[in-house]
Amino acid sequence: MSRRPVGSGRRLADGGSFPFSGSLNSKSKSSPLLSVALILVGAVVLVCIAKGGSGLFAVNRDMSKVEGDFLCTLEVQKAIPVMKKAYGDSMRKVLHVGPDTCSVVSILLKEEETEAWGVEPYDIEDADASCKGLVRKGLVRVADIKFPLPYRPKSFSLVIVSDALDYLSPKYLNKTLPDLARISSEGLVAFTGLPGKQKAKVAEVSKFGRPAKLRSTSWWVQYFRQMSLEENEAATKKFEQAVTKSSYEPSCQIFHLKSYQ
Ligand SMILES: *[C@@H]1O[C@H](CO)[C@@H](O)[C@H](O)[C@H]1NC(C)=O
Repeated sequence: MSRRPVGSGRRLADGGSFPFSGSLNSKSKSSPLLSVALILVGAVVLVCIAKGGSGLFAVNRDMSKVEGDFLCTLEVQKAIPVMKKAYGDSMRKVLHVGPDTCSVVSILLKEEETEAWGVEPYDIEDADASCKGLVRKGLVRVADIKFPLPYRPKSFSLVIVSDALDYLSPKYLNKTLPDLARISSEGLVAFTGLPGKQKAKVAEVSKFGRPAKLRSTSWWVQYFRQMSLEENEAATKKFEQAVTKSSYEPSCQIFHLKSYQ
């Protein structure tokens, strides 16, 4: 699903051509033969770029998918088995909120004794057929998360949010975060980008209308305190134990919070 043609185009150009021109300049003085070879390689690359859809493009597209905007949603997918160990029965009615929620909902639906729903903050015109099927069934809903979500208090046992919070200014965060704590009964898990890990995306303006603002762990901890959201210490401990026993290495910040009582 290519949702951000402008951003990914720029990343392709950087990743594809820049390293080659760099090595061309530095090596050309030392060996004429080497520089000829490099020029040939460069020419092949340029032809590939001109033609488009080459192997080079495919590699870069994969990279930009991993390093791109939905890094933490990708991480939720990997973390589901670990969360299952940490949360057990609290995973029986899960709501995932975040971009590419279809991918998370379809994995959750394969888990036994788990019902799953999703809220997708982007429009999903270019979604695949299985995602459109989830929307038709009412399992995935497209909604602007800046406004209260249309669910009763404690509708879900667990609410998981990924990436989406990074795009909200404090004004909207002040509304959205308490709302997520309101509609969950046994916990709220927030996956947020880790500053430094996703440098490339910070400068890019997203479909949310503002660039992602990656906040530090201490910023979040203080913010949760201000919002009277308490850490779910039991879940944090179990989650960390389960992470140690698995091959999964978190690359996002993961906060385990209690629901509002
Ligand atoms: C968000 O909520 C906090 C805590 O109640 C408050 O201190 C802050 O001023 C609010 N920010 C905005 C932009 O409304």
